[in-house]
Amino acid sequence: MSERHIYLDHGATTPVDERVVQAMLPYWTETYGNPSSSHHFGRQAEHAADSARRMIAGLLNARPDEIIFTGCGSESDNLAIRGVMWAARVGGRGNHLITSAIEHKAVLETAKQLQQQSGFAVTVLPVDQYGRVDPQQVAEAIRPDTALISIMAANNEIGTLQPIEEIGNLAYSRGVLFHTDAIQAAAVREWDMARLPIDLVSFAPHKFYGPKGVGFLYARKGVNLVAALTGGGQEDGRRAGTVNVPYAVGATEAFRLAMEEREANVAHYCHLRDRLIDGILQIGDDCVLTGHPEQRLPHNASFAFRGISGNDLLIHLDAAGIAASSGSACSTGNPKPSAILEAIGLGDEWTRGGLRLTVGQQNTDDDVDYVLETMPRIIATLREFSFQYA
Ligand SMILES: Cc1ncc(COP(=O)(O)O)c(C=O)c1O
Repeated sequence: MSERHIYLDHGATTPVDERVVQAMLPYWTETYGNPSSSHHFGRQAEHAADSARRMIAGLLNARPDEIIFTGCGSESDNLAIRGVMWAARVGGRGNHLITSAIEHKAVLETAKQLQQQSGFAVTVLPVDQYGRVDPQQVAEAIRPDTALISIMAANNEIGTLQPIEEIGNLAYSRGVLFHTDAIQAAAVREWDMARLPIDLVSFAPHKFYGPKGVGFLYARKGVNLVAALTGGGQEDGRRAGTVNVPYAVGATEAFRLAMEEREANVAHYCHLRDRLIDGILQIGDDCVLTGHPEQRLPHNASFAFRGISGNDLLIHLDAAGIAASSGSACSTGNPKPSAILEAIGLGDEWTRGGLRLTVGQQNTDDDVDYVLETMPRIIATLREFSFQYA
């Protein structure tokens, strides 16, 4: 086992920024009231939750009542999709959802459940070899009863950025609501909701140096959502449950820092990502870059290796002190072929051999040097091994 520990799994989650921890601290033991209580303690907590909501709204160029705090990124996706689809059904405004084959399971499983258990119609669009959705195919899939299009801003496994503005404009021109899962892309671009043709956007602060266990959803004023969590009417009746004030404050501070420091972070990520891509592709023909060569997340370097098990690769990397992933954290340890690698058209000999390296703020050139020294040796060992047992 290695003495060295290099974390290259920032697409799974990030450490919490010390400044975020500091911002959250007073809200555990000092300002601990329930924001719904009318007394002094409650009013203090309500003020903190309101300030957090206003701050996020300001960063998104949105209105405070367009921000809904949730419990995680998955919940933001669930609320957007389930909430809009049920509201459309209740209002007699449609029954059909359009999404893509490479969405996160928080979207795809929600769509599947709506289809199988509640009789909603769902179209799952294919993607090209780079994992891009074709806006023309989105246009062709729209029906008179289409209530929502949900296409992610960036893929969690292969890092491909989707043409969300083009898809949003198209959705607007046809009077269909548009949701994007921005959970991977949140911290690497600007979100000017007064300008963007997007009605709902999902966020998860643990992907940008905020706490786990909190998410937020932007839902444009006038978009009706049927709540999945019913109860005390918090979040304007869209998500019941006492607002988690320390987490709302932490989410806000993380998002503020992410937006303020975006340029420097993105430049740092791109530098390390490009070094990883160039170095790893030199391993040879049995390794390909997955996802789009340019339209990709600044922090994501993803590959497929022919005839190699991604799980074995992860185990060897871990033993060498390198924490990586085969795709989404949710499916790591799962020996099934990657549905994303299948969707981009890779054959059986490639789809079990995915590797995702996602860099972060604390990674250095030294870390990249170590990975580039270590990888060829591991790949050679795994090849020898798979050859013996072939
Ligand atoms: C694109 C995308 N959507 C949704 C999620 C789910 O977010 P959470 O784990 O916060 O529920 C993730 C997490 O990896 C993700 O990458």
